[in-house]
Amino acid sequence: MQMTEYAGRDGLREMQELTQRIWSPASRLHLGDLAWERSANAGRADGWRTAVWRDDEQVVAWAWLAQPGHLLMTVDPARPELAATVVEWFRAAADGPGLAAGVLETEQHLLAALEAAGFRRQDDAPYYTHHWISLDDLAEPVVPEGLTLRHVRVDEVAQRAAVHRAAWSDVAPSTMGEEAMGEVMSTWPYRPELDWVVENEAGEFVASALIWLDEQHQVGLVEPVGVATAYRRRGLGQAVNLAALYALREAGGTRAVVCPRGDDGYPQARALYQSIGFRPGLRTLHLLLG
Ligand SMILES: CC(C)(COP(=O)(O)OP(=O)(O)OC[C@H]1O[C@@H](n2cnc3c(N)ncnc32)[C@H](O)[C@@H]1OP(=O)(O)O)[C@@H](O)C(=O)NCCC(=O)NCCS
Repeated sequence: MQMTEYAGRDGLREMQELTQRIWSPASRLHLGDLAWERSANAGRADGWRTAVWRDDEQVVAWAWLAQPGHLLMTVDPARPELAATVVEWFRAAADGPGLAAGVLETEQHLLAALEAAGFRRQDDAPYYTHHWISLDDLAEPVVPEGLTLRHVRVDEVAQRAAVHRAAWSDVAPSTMGEEAMGEVMSTWPYRPELDWVVENEAGEFVASALIWLDEQHQVGLVEPVGVATAYRRRGLGQAVNLAALYALREAGGTRAVVCPRGDDGYPQARALYQSIGFRPGLRTLHLLLG
Protein backbone atom coordinates (compact mmCIF):
# COMPACT_ATOMS: atom_id res chain seq x y z
CA MET A 1 0.00 0.00 0.00
CA GLN A 2 1.31 3.42 -0.94
CA MET A 3 -0.10 6.77 0.19
CA THR A 4 0.56 10.03 -1.66
CA GLU A 5 -0.38 13.42 -0.23
CA TYR A 6 -1.14 16.42 -2.40
CA ALA A 7 -1.46 20.10 -1.66
CA GLY A 8 -3.56 22.27 -3.99
CA ARG A 9 -5.38 20.91 -7.01
CA ASP A 10 -3.37 17.81 -7.86
CA GLY A 11 -4.80 14.33 -7.52
CA LEU A 12 -8.14 14.91 -9.27
CA ARG A 13 -7.70 12.27 -12.00
CA GLU A 14 -6.76 9.63 -9.44
CA MET A 15 -9.79 10.52 -7.32
CA GLN A 16 -12.00 10.31 -10.40
CA GLU A 17 -10.46 6.99 -11.41
CA LEU A 18 -11.52 5.34 -8.14
CA THR A 19 -14.87 7.11 -8.01
CA GLN A 20 -15.70 5.84 -11.51
CA ARG A 21 -14.31 2.32 -10.96
CA ILE A 22 -16.50 1.62 -7.94
CA TRP A 23 -19.50 3.79 -8.89
CA SER A 24 -23.00 2.41 -8.36
CA PRO A 25 -26.31 4.16 -7.59
CA ALA A 26 -25.36 3.57 -3.94
CA SER A 27 -22.23 5.80 -4.24
CA ARG A 28 -22.32 9.29 -2.83
CA LEU A 29 -20.14 10.82 -5.54
CA HIS A 30 -20.10 10.77 -9.34
CA LEU A 31 -16.89 11.70 -11.13
CA GLY A 32 -18.59 14.93 -12.18
CA ASP A 33 -18.96 15.98 -8.53
CA LEU A 34 -15.19 15.95 -8.24
CA ALA A 35 -14.69 17.69 -11.57
CA TRP A 36 -17.05 20.49 -10.56
CA GLU A 37 -16.00 20.89 -6.91
CA ARG A 38 -12.29 20.95 -7.62
CA SER A 39 -12.38 23.15 -10.72
CA ALA A 40 -15.06 25.67 -9.71
CA ASN A 41 -13.33 26.19 -6.35
CA ALA A 42 -9.78 26.14 -7.71
CA GLY A 43 -9.16 29.63 -6.27
CA ARG A 44 -9.39 28.13 -2.78
CA ALA A 45 -7.01 25.25 -3.55
CA ASP A 46 -4.19 26.59 -1.36
CA GLY A 47 -5.78 25.17 1.76
CA TRP A 48 -6.69 21.77 0.33
CA ARG A 49 -5.13 18.58 1.55
CA THR A 50 -5.66 15.38 -0.37
CA ALA A 51 -4.41 11.85 0.18
CA VAL A 52 -4.59 8.97 -2.28
CA TRP A 53 -3.95 5.32 -1.38
CA ARG A 54 -2.87 2.82 -4.07
CA ASP A 55 -2.33 -0.88 -4.03
CA ASP A 56 -0.41 -2.34 -6.98
CA GLU A 57 -0.98 0.87 -8.95
CA GLN A 58 -4.76 0.70 -8.43
CA VAL A 59 -6.29 3.61 -6.50
CA VAL A 60 -8.20 2.08 -3.56
CA ALA A 61 -9.05 5.12 -1.38
CA TRP A 62 -8.83 8.88 -1.30
CA ALA A 63 -9.56 11.64 1.21
CA TRP A 64 -9.96 15.37 0.61
CA LEU A 65 -10.30 18.29 3.00
CA ALA A 66 -12.28 20.65 0.75
CA GLN A 67 -12.85 22.77 3.84
CA PRO A 68 -10.37 22.69 6.72
CA GLY A 69 -12.35 20.41 9.04
CA HIS A 70 -14.60 18.59 6.57
CA LEU A 71 -13.77 15.18 5.12
CA LEU A 72 -14.90 13.87 1.75
CA MET A 73 -13.72 10.35 1.00
CA THR A 74 -14.14 7.35 -1.24
CA VAL A 75 -12.97 3.89 -0.23
CA ASP A 76 -13.25 0.79 -2.41
CA PRO A 77 -16.05 -1.28 -0.78
CA ALA A 78 -13.92 -4.37 -1.57
CA ARG A 79 -11.33 -2.93 0.86
CA PRO A 80 -13.56 -1.77 3.76
CA GLU A 81 -10.70 -1.95 6.28
CA LEU A 82 -9.09 1.08 4.58
CA ALA A 83 -11.87 3.36 5.80
CA ALA A 84 -10.31 3.39 9.28
CA THR A 85 -6.93 4.37 7.77
CA VAL A 86 -8.57 7.26 5.93
CA VAL A 87 -10.37 8.51 9.04
CA GLU A 88 -7.14 8.29 11.02
CA TRP A 89 -5.36 10.37 8.36
CA PHE A 90 -8.18 12.94 8.54
CA ARG A 91 -7.91 13.30 12.30
CA ALA A 92 -4.16 13.86 12.04
CA ALA A 93 -4.37 16.18 8.99
CA ALA A 94 -7.28 18.40 10.05
CA ASP A 95 -6.85 21.21 12.51
CA GLY A 96 -9.12 22.34 15.24
CA PRO A 97 -12.44 21.32 16.76
CA GLY A 98 -15.69 20.51 14.96
CA LEU A 99 -14.39 17.85 12.57
CA ALA A 100 -17.17 16.78 10.20
CA ALA A 101 -17.75 14.24 7.45
CA GLY A 102 -20.49 13.39 4.98
CA VAL A 103 -21.41 9.99 3.51
CA LEU A 104 -24.33 8.46 1.64
CA GLU A 105 -26.60 6.36 3.88
CA THR A 106 -25.60 3.17 2.02
CA GLU A 107 -21.84 3.68 2.50
CA GLN A 108 -21.78 1.43 5.54
CA HIS A 109 -18.01 0.86 5.50
CA LEU A 110 -17.42 4.64 5.78
CA LEU A 111 -20.12 5.10 8.39
CA ALA A 112 -18.74 2.27 10.53
CA ALA A 113 -15.19 3.69 10.47
CA LEU A 114 -16.40 7.19 11.36
CA GLU A 115 -18.60 5.95 14.21
CA ALA A 116 -15.76 3.75 15.54
CA ALA A 117 -13.58 6.91 15.65
CA GLY A 118 -16.21 8.78 17.70
CA PHE A 119 -18.16 10.62 14.97
CA ARG A 120 -21.90 10.89 15.58
CA ARG A 121 -24.78 11.33 13.12
CA GLN A 122 -26.40 14.78 13.13
CA ASP A 123 -29.91 13.92 12.03
CA ASP A 124 -31.21 17.50 12.27
CA ALA A 125 -28.39 18.91 10.08
CA PRO A 126 -29.01 19.85 6.41
CA TYR A 127 -28.63 16.92 4.02
CA TYR A 128 -28.78 16.09 0.32
CA THR A 129 -30.98 13.56 -1.47
CA HIS A 130 -30.04 11.89 -4.74
CA HIS A 131 -32.76 12.33 -7.32
CA TRP A 132 -32.97 10.09 -10.41
CA ILE A 133 -34.53 10.32 -13.84
CA SER A 134 -34.57 7.84 -16.74
CA LEU A 135 -33.98 9.51 -20.11
CA ASP A 136 -36.56 7.34 -21.89
CA ASP A 137 -39.48 9.68 -21.62
CA LEU A 138 -38.59 13.37 -21.29
CA ALA A 139 -40.99 16.29 -21.67
CA GLU A 140 -40.20 18.85 -24.39
CA PRO A 141 -38.20 21.91 -23.29
CA VAL A 142 -40.10 25.14 -23.95
CA VAL A 143 -38.91 28.73 -23.41
CA PRO A 144 -40.98 31.94 -23.63
CA GLU A 145 -40.96 33.98 -26.84
CA GLY A 146 -37.71 35.88 -27.39
CA LEU A 147 -35.52 33.49 -25.43
CA THR A 148 -33.31 30.81 -27.01
CA LEU A 149 -32.06 27.46 -25.75
CA ARG A 150 -28.64 26.28 -26.88
CA HIS A 151 -25.42 24.78 -25.60
CA VAL A 152 -22.39 26.97 -24.92
CA ARG A 153 -19.27 27.24 -27.05
CA VAL A 154 -15.81 26.73 -25.62
CA ASP A 155 -14.87 30.39 -26.13
CA GLU A 156 -17.85 31.69 -24.08
CA VAL A 157 -16.12 31.42 -20.73
CA ALA A 158 -16.87 34.99 -19.55
CA GLN A 159 -20.61 34.79 -20.36
CA ARG A 160 -20.80 31.34 -18.78
CA ALA A 161 -19.20 32.64 -15.58
CA ALA A 162 -21.56 35.65 -15.58
CA VAL A 163 -24.74 33.53 -15.69
CA HIS A 164 -23.43 31.41 -12.86
CA ARG A 165 -22.90 34.55 -10.75
CA ALA A 166 -26.33 35.91 -11.70
CA ALA A 167 -27.97 32.71 -10.39
CA TRP A 168 -25.80 31.97 -7.39
CA SER A 169 -25.62 35.28 -5.54
CA ASP A 170 -28.84 35.02 -3.49
CA VAL A 171 -27.15 34.39 -0.18
CA ALA A 172 -23.73 35.98 -0.78
CA PRO A 173 -22.08 37.26 -3.96
CA SER A 174 -20.71 34.35 -6.00
CA THR A 175 -16.96 34.47 -6.57
CA MET A 176 -17.17 32.57 -9.84
CA GLY A 177 -14.92 34.32 -12.36
CA GLU A 178 -13.42 33.66 -15.76
CA GLU A 179 -10.44 31.84 -14.38
CA ALA A 180 -12.49 29.34 -12.38
CA MET A 181 -15.01 28.84 -15.20
CA GLY A 182 -12.11 28.32 -17.62
CA GLU A 183 -10.88 25.65 -15.24
CA VAL A 184 -14.35 24.00 -15.17
CA MET A 185 -14.57 24.02 -18.97
CA SER A 186 -11.17 22.37 -19.35
CA THR A 187 -11.66 19.66 -16.72
CA TRP A 188 -12.43 16.09 -17.81
CA PRO A 189 -15.16 15.05 -18.63
CA TYR A 190 -16.58 18.54 -19.43
CA ARG A 191 -18.25 18.76 -22.86
CA PRO A 192 -19.76 22.00 -24.20
CA GLU A 193 -22.61 20.05 -25.82
CA LEU A 194 -23.77 19.02 -22.32
CA ASP A 195 -23.58 22.59 -20.98
CA TRP A 196 -26.87 24.35 -21.81
CA VAL A 197 -27.99 27.95 -21.48
CA VAL A 198 -30.97 30.18 -22.14
CA GLU A 199 -29.98 33.33 -24.03
CA ASN A 200 -32.05 36.53 -24.01
CA GLU A 201 -32.65 38.98 -26.86
CA ALA A 202 -29.52 40.95 -25.86
CA GLY A 203 -27.33 37.84 -26.13
CA GLU A 204 -26.92 37.46 -22.37
CA PHE A 205 -27.17 34.05 -20.75
CA VAL A 206 -29.96 33.99 -18.14
CA ALA A 207 -30.12 30.29 -17.16
CA SER A 208 -27.73 27.35 -17.29
CA ALA A 209 -27.53 23.60 -16.64
CA LEU A 210 -24.34 21.58 -16.82
CA ILE A 211 -24.22 17.78 -17.08
CA TRP A 212 -21.17 15.57 -16.58
CA LEU A 213 -21.33 12.19 -18.35
CA ASP A 214 -19.77 9.05 -16.94
CA GLU A 215 -19.56 7.09 -20.20
CA GLN A 216 -18.67 3.83 -18.48
CA HIS A 217 -21.92 3.81 -16.49
CA GLN A 218 -23.97 5.90 -18.97
CA VAL A 219 -25.06 8.16 -16.14
CA GLY A 220 -25.02 11.95 -16.16
CA LEU A 221 -24.66 14.16 -13.11
CA VAL A 222 -26.55 17.47 -13.27
CA GLU A 223 -24.33 20.03 -11.53
CA PRO A 224 -25.00 22.93 -11.32
CA VAL A 225 -28.29 24.50 -12.48
CA GLY A 226 -29.12 28.16 -12.04
CA VAL A 227 -31.49 30.83 -13.29
CA ALA A 228 -30.75 34.59 -13.00
CA THR A 229 -32.95 36.07 -10.29
CA ALA A 230 -34.89 38.36 -12.67
CA TYR A 231 -35.90 35.36 -14.83
CA ARG A 232 -37.17 32.92 -12.24
CA ARG A 233 -40.55 31.13 -12.11
CA ARG A 234 -40.96 31.33 -15.88
CA GLY A 235 -40.09 27.71 -16.57
CA LEU A 236 -36.46 28.37 -17.54
CA GLY A 237 -35.07 26.03 -14.88
CA GLN A 238 -37.21 23.24 -16.29
CA ALA A 239 -36.42 24.06 -19.91
CA VAL A 240 -32.65 24.33 -19.57
CA ASN A 241 -32.54 21.09 -17.55
CA LEU A 242 -34.64 19.21 -20.08
CA ALA A 243 -32.54 20.47 -23.00
CA ALA A 244 -29.36 19.29 -21.25
CA LEU A 245 -31.01 15.92 -20.51
CA TYR A 246 -31.88 15.46 -24.21
CA ALA A 247 -28.25 16.21 -25.06
CA LEU A 248 -27.17 13.68 -22.46
CA ARG A 249 -29.35 11.04 -24.12
CA GLU A 250 -27.88 11.95 -27.48
CA ALA A 251 -24.38 11.49 -26.02
CA GLY A 252 -25.20 7.96 -24.82
CA GLY A 253 -26.56 8.56 -21.30
CA THR A 254 -29.48 6.45 -20.09
CA ARG A 255 -30.22 8.13 -16.74
CA ALA A 256 -29.28 11.19 -14.73
CA VAL A 257 -28.77 12.00 -11.09
CA VAL A 258 -28.83 15.30 -9.22
CA CYS A 259 -28.28 15.94 -5.54
CA PRO A 260 -30.33 18.83 -4.13
CA ARG A 261 -30.97 19.53 -0.45
CA GLY A 262 -33.38 16.97 0.97
CA ASP A 263 -34.28 18.86 4.16
CA ASP A 264 -36.88 21.61 4.28
CA GLY A 265 -34.30 24.41 4.70
CA TYR A 266 -33.90 24.77 0.87
CA PRO A 267 -36.82 23.09 -0.91
CA GLN A 268 -36.86 25.03 -4.22
CA ALA A 269 -34.15 23.00 -5.95
CA ARG A 270 -35.73 19.60 -5.29
CA ALA A 271 -39.12 21.08 -6.23
CA LEU A 272 -37.68 22.05 -9.61
CA TYR A 273 -36.16 18.61 -10.25
CA GLN A 274 -39.29 16.78 -9.11
CA SER A 275 -41.38 18.99 -11.42
CA ILE A 276 -39.35 17.60 -14.37
CA GLY A 277 -39.73 13.98 -13.28
CA PHE A 278 -36.70 13.31 -11.06
CA ARG A 279 -37.60 11.01 -8.15
CA PRO A 280 -35.89 10.98 -4.74
CA GLY A 281 -33.56 8.14 -3.71
CA LEU A 282 -30.79 7.82 -1.13
CA ARG A 283 -29.77 10.65 1.23
CA THR A 284 -26.52 11.85 2.75
CA LEU A 285 -25.67 11.72 6.43
CA HIS A 286 -23.69 14.39 8.25
CA LEU A 287 -21.42 13.32 11.11
CA LEU A 288 -19.54 15.34 13.73
CA LEU A 289 -16.74 14.25 16.02
CA GLY A 290 -17.57 14.32 19.71
C1 LIG B 1 -33.89 26.52 -8.31
C2 LIG B 1 -33.95 27.41 -9.56
C3 LIG B 1 -32.92 26.87 -10.58
C4 LIG B 1 -35.35 27.33 -10.17
O1 LIG B 1 -35.37 27.99 -11.42
P1 LIG B 1 -36.72 28.56 -12.05
O2 LIG B 1 -36.45 28.94 -13.47
O3 LIG B 1 -37.31 29.60 -11.18
O4 LIG B 1 -37.63 27.27 -12.03
P2 LIG B 1 -38.94 27.02 -12.94
O5 LIG B 1 -39.63 28.30 -13.26
O6 LIG B 1 -38.57 26.15 -14.11
O7 LIG B 1 -39.83 26.20 -11.91
C5 LIG B 1 -40.34 24.91 -12.17
C6 LIG B 1 -41.01 24.39 -10.92
O8 LIG B 1 -40.04 24.20 -9.89
C7 LIG B 1 -40.62 24.52 -8.62
N1 LIG B 1 -39.98 25.73 -8.06
C8 LIG B 1 -39.08 26.54 -8.65
N2 LIG B 1 -38.70 27.52 -7.81
C9 LIG B 1 -39.37 27.32 -6.65
C10 LIG B 1 -39.41 28.01 -5.41
N3 LIG B 1 -38.66 29.11 -5.18
N4 LIG B 1 -40.21 27.53 -4.43
C11 LIG B 1 -40.95 26.43 -4.64
N5 LIG B 1 -40.98 25.74 -5.82
C12 LIG B 1 -40.20 26.18 -6.81
C13 LIG B 1 -42.10 24.79 -8.90
O9 LIG B 1 -42.76 23.54 -8.85
C14 LIG B 1 -42.03 25.31 -10.31
O10 LIG B 1 -43.24 25.21 -10.99
P3 LIG B 1 -44.33 26.41 -10.86
O11 LIG B 1 -43.60 27.71 -11.09
O12 LIG B 1 -45.32 26.08 -11.94
O13 LIG B 1 -44.87 26.31 -9.48
C15 LIG B 1 -33.62 28.90 -9.23
O14 LIG B 1 -34.42 29.30 -8.13
C16 LIG B 1 -32.16 29.15 -8.89
O15 LIG B 1 -31.34 29.37 -9.78
N6 LIG B 1 -31.81 29.12 -7.58
C17 LIG B 1 -30.42 29.34 -7.14
C18 LIG B 1 -29.51 28.22 -7.59
C19 LIG B 1 -30.03 26.85 -7.17
O16 LIG B 1 -30.51 26.64 -6.06
N7 LIG B 1 -29.89 25.84 -8.08
C20 LIG B 1 -30.29 24.46 -7.85
C21 LIG B 1 -29.35 23.83 -6.89
S1 LIG B 1 -29.17 22.09 -7.00
